[in-house]
Amino acid sequence: MTLAELLSACDELRATALQEVAGAGSIDAWTDLRTALVGRKGGRVTHLMAALPGLPAEERRSAGAAINALKQAVEAALDAREAELRAAAGGGPALDLTMPGRTAWRGSRHPVTLVIDEITEIFRELGFTVALGPEAETEWYNFGALNFPADHPAMDMHDTLYLGPGTVLRTHTSPVQVRTMQRWNPPIRVLAPGNVYRRDFFDATHAPAFAQIEGLAIDEGISFADLKATLTHFAKRFYGATTRTRFGPSFFPFTEPSAQMDVEIDLGDGRGLRWVEIMGTGLVHPAVIEAAGLDSQRYSGWAFGMGPARIAMSRYGIPDIRLLYDSDVRFLEQFA
Ligand code: PHE
Repeated sequence: MTLAELLSACDELRATALQEVAGAGSIDAWTDLRTALVGRKGGRVTHLMAALPGLPAEERRSAGAAINALKQAVEAALDAREAELRAAAGGGPALDLTMPGRTAWRGSRHPVTLVIDEITEIFRELGFTVALGPEAETEWYNFGALNFPADHPAMDMHDTLYLGPGTVLRTHTSPVQVRTMQRWNPPIRVLAPGNVYRRDFFDATHAPAFAQIEGLAIDEGISFADLKATLTHFAKRFYGATTRTRFGPSFFPFTEPSAQMDVEIDLGDGRGLRWVEIMGTGLVHPAVIEAAGLDSQRYSGWAFGMGPARIAMSRYGIPDIRLLYDSDVRFLEQFA
């Protein structure tokens, strides 16, 4: 066969093949036709390849290209006809029973939510209900009613995000203490989880917005012993019955005395048991009780505040607080 003969054979075969493909009336006929045209052995297109070695070397390239173009045109026509036949037969694409199934995607609760829920549950058993307050708060609830002096450094523009004169994004959940005491008569036992905001750089250990959990107990005759017993019970429930706790001195304008509670826990970093501060606490300052409109001679109580993000980090061995805010599913699905 000469090159010219081969090229005209290609043209001829293209014309007849496309007609035959268009005329294939069933999937069976289509299958037979496919074998006859492009089957690896004896297909009429494949067969033309056999003429290539007989051509002079310099002609083989263009001959090969012509046969390939023919093959692609025939295969495209076959695919199109197959789709038509299958659509006519079944009204949809072929059902491929070997296709792997799609597993249902299940979300999971965020590690900070898991910690908040677990803490809320432990305190719920002790008679605490959940109280909520606004994130846009007045300076008075956030600072003044909580016995911050008017020139306290926390009120500085550098530490607090102001929304306008007298209005801030709350820097802690403690204003919920005041709102709760204004609204309900003692005995009061509430837990107030919520987001708080501070003008901090976003780094491995600080976030400008983060969750806190506030606790408040107010009644007649409540003492520091109640605080210690309740919070120690909480630590043993949350971290395990053998967990040790200790209280050390601290300072907050709204508690007197103020304390921090440390728990002895293993952070999973190979360093074994270690004392870790998990909350600020103390007896509610009489000035706060009075500011909320209750009689501080009659009522006393205690409060605490803790950061569930920090607690989630120590509990799950999370090295960087930003992981909790990145919304990376690969990280979050580990808590499913
Ligand atoms: N509001 C304090 C803080 O944000 C925590 C705290 C709450 C301390 C209640 C004592 C009592 O650091």
